[in-house]
Amino acid sequence: MLLRTPRTVTAHTPWRILPSRAHSSHAAPPSFAPTGSTSADTEVPYGDPSLASSAYLPRKDGAPPLTPEEQRATSEAPPLTPRQKRVLERIIRVDQAGELGANYIYYGQHAVLNRGKDKHAADLVQAMWDGEKKHIAAFDKLITQHDVRPTALYPLWKAMAFGLGAGTALMGKRAAMACTEAVETVIGEHYNEQLEQLKKDMPDHPSIPLLEKILTEFRDDELEHLDTAVANESQQAPAYALLSAVIAGGCRWAIGATSRV
Ligand SMILES: [Fe+2]
Ligand SMILES: [Fe+2]
Repeated sequence: MLLRTPRTVTAHTPWRILPSRAHSSHAAPPSFAPTGSTSADTEVPYGDPSLASSAYLPRKDGAPPLTPEEQRATSEAPPLTPRQKRVLERIIRVDQAGELGANYIYYGQHAVLNRGKDKHAADLVQAMWDGEKKHIAAFDKLITQHDVRPTALYPLWKAMAFGLGAGTALMGKRAAMACTEAVETVIGEHYNEQLEQLKKDMPDHPSIPLLEKILTEFRDDELEHLDTAVANESQQAPAYALLSAVIAGGCRWAIGATSRV
């Protein structure tokens, strides 16, 4: 079972998650800083000061400045033992590549669905894609801060992820949602495994608890994407079981390859 931060569910919670809520574990849709782009060639969103990820994102005028502790947490690379370095580098390299892939999956899905008649499906995918822009922008900063070598497989992941997104969207909205469900299930599990690794023998430095909070926030975002996919009939996709197994297996293989290359 996937662990997640408990959310308040009221009797009025709609079954079908609205696009404006679908991108994140918080309600406000993102807005984007006027300059800059991420390694996934997407816009950089402004940070929401109520969320941990805001420490790495541009701040809107009037937002509270970073505290000295947050400045330290976002600018220093702590001294690490060889084992700690291996663990931290693997987490950040794999997650940055995974978020790059997620952006390109939604890019591919949106490119197809936006040309069709089902604008609701295109909007749904756009809302989830906007959430992924926050994730990749934060990991682009983390990879620099901790001096982690990015994966050498960028071009391959971009092409494969765009193809997966476009290919499933060409099979229809339900197949696109089945793709989202499979990918986000694997990514949710993966974030939970990483959170366990960070609890063991890591240095006493403010960057580590901040990273834990960010992984938790992003894990919850991914699981909200999963819920959105299920609410939008992912499990009624043609050849659902086979499609899910192939995509989830591909994601696990990609995580393994990225951790080494
Ligand atoms: Fe993501
Ligand atoms: Fe996601």
